[in-house]
Amino acid sequence: MRDVTTRPALLSDLPRLAEIYNHYILNTPITFSTRPSTVEGFTEWFEEHSDGKRHRLVVALEDGGCVIGYAGTGRFRPKEAYETTVETTIYRSAECTQRGVGTLLYRALFELIAGEDIHRIVAGVTLPNPASVALHERFGFRHVGTFTENGRKFGKYWDVAWFERPLRL
Ligand SMILES: CC(C)(COP(=O)(O)OP(=O)(O)OC[C@H]1O[C@@H](n2cnc3c(N)ncnc32)[C@H](O)[C@@H]1OP(=O)(O)O)[C@@H](O)C(=O)NCCC(=O)NCCS
Repeated sequence: MRDVTTRPALLSDLPRLAEIYNHYILNTPITFSTRPSTVEGFTEWFEEHSDGKRHRLVVALEDGGCVIGYAGTGRFRPKEAYETTVETTIYRSAECTQRGVGTLLYRALFELIAGEDIHRIVAGVTLPNPASVALHERFGFRHVGTFTENGRKFGKYWDVAWFERPLRL
């Protein structure tokens, strides 16, 4: 494996994060966003992860340079009592074929949130996505159920499997 490091995301990473994510918006049902966004369009999302804010965002860098993926926590649902549940997001750049990046990113993210006031971590996975299912199971997530056909993209309905784990296993 080439040298891959992780660190918290910086505002200067945002154009690259947008590039990574826009690829999945345009070409896959993995995210249910259907329209790519500009860097400005992602600013509000990024700011929820800035210093002192509720959520975290980490990036993986290849050979100390190019960002090849990111993972983060985010709000699960807006009502206040959901505050102790976070939903994760994780994307490795499509042109990066190196294995192990997802594992490094989740490891870094979960270390970062270890002391936070979080009770449950949840993740929704559009099916099929064997890499994501394997990654979540590896990190102790349990499959709690699958919503059938609850998103339509590319003229087709997609199922979403939901996973959860406690903060501490
Ligand atoms: C999901 C994703 C982040 C996983 O990252 P990754 O770098 O491939 O993950 P790793 O190499 O660390 O592997 C994690 C596990 O997935 C397995 N895996 C990886 N690619 C796989 C594939 N194509 N098919 C089946 N299993 C796969 C690995 O064997 C490993 O399992 P193990 O721990 O049992 O050995 C990455 O594939 C990705 O960005 N995919 C596109 C975006 C996406 O699906 N995001 C998640 C949305 S829910």
